Amino acid sequence: MSVQVVAVTGAASGIGRATVELFAGRGAKVVAVDVAKRGLDDLAAGHDGVVPLVGDVSAEETNAELAALAVREFGRLDAVVLNAGIGGAGPLESPGAIERFERILAVNVRGVVLGIRAVLPALRASGGGSIVVTSSVSGLHGDPGTWAYNVSKAAVINLVRAAAIDYAVENIRVNAIAPGGTATPLTAGVIAHPALGPAVTERIPQRRWAEPREQAEVIWFLTSPAASYITGVTVPVDGGLTANSGLLLPPAVPGGEPR
Ligand SMILES: NC(=O)c1ccc[n+]([C@@H]2O[C@H](COP(=O)([O-])OP(=O)(O)OC[C@H]3O[C@@H](n4cnc5c(N)ncnc54)[C@H](O)[C@@H]3O)[C@@H](O)[C@H]2O)c1
Repeated sequence: MSVQVVAVTGAASGIGRATVELFAGRGAKVVAVDVAKRGLDDLAAGHDGVVPLVGDVSAEETNAELAALAVREFGRLDAVVLNAGIGGAGPLESPGAIERFERILAVNVRGVVLGIRAVLPALRASGGGSIVVTSSVSGLHGDPGTWAYNVSKAAVINLVRAAAIDYAVENIRVNAIAPGGTATPLTAGVIAHPALGPAVTERIPQRRWAEPREQAEVIWFLTSPAASYITGVTVPVDGGLTANSGLLLPPAVPGGEPR
């Protein structure tokens, strides 16, 4: 049976919002968690069965309340999507870089550790369940000027493996997606940049950015019974970006010259 009750963090915007809309549209009840109250309120107002929770995922109380609210409102919890994330630390040697690094780790890594820890009892009570973490292609490889985010997104990939092993016998699966460039408020500046936008698009084999819904569909799949034997993996959802070694040779075309 598909997921009946799911909690989604980073729910007010982008990939998290698309995930809430997709699950709610398919009949699931949703606890939608974010620091952004306004975005959450209009999301909840527009969808039946979506309950907002304003809170910071780096705080233990938010995660405890996420699980408690699901059980209180809907009687159970079947899945959690630990998606809230932030980027940007600036050059490693810049003033304030370490404080910004620590904040990135607090949201992108500590928030996920706390989230997993908080939902386990409720998932267990449902006879098992599914945890999906939003990592990134930036967790699979390094990017220029992105060291802090790279560290955080790589950390959760190995956390997913370790937690998957520990909880597999309890029928709790733990997986991640690694989105490539996805059109959300997080990336709007890059997409709109006259030089950077086209340059990044050119590197994506599918030659376009993902829509948030294309990430949400893979999250849906990972939580569904169709993925019942998948645990501990990170699925790139990146239009072929990480299939490329980094060499930017033109693609081979039918009838083209041998290289
Ligand atoms: N957009 C991309 O290209 C892309 C690529 C790879 C990975 N990701 C990851 O996908 C996830 C979602 O990103 P998005 O692109 O939808 O970004 P977004 O900025 O549109 O949405 C992120 C949401 O998380 C919320 N949030 C931030 N810090 C929070 C906190 N401490 N507690 C609770 N909520 C918090 C924000 O308020 C926002 O609503 C992030 O983890 C991001 O790192 C995005």
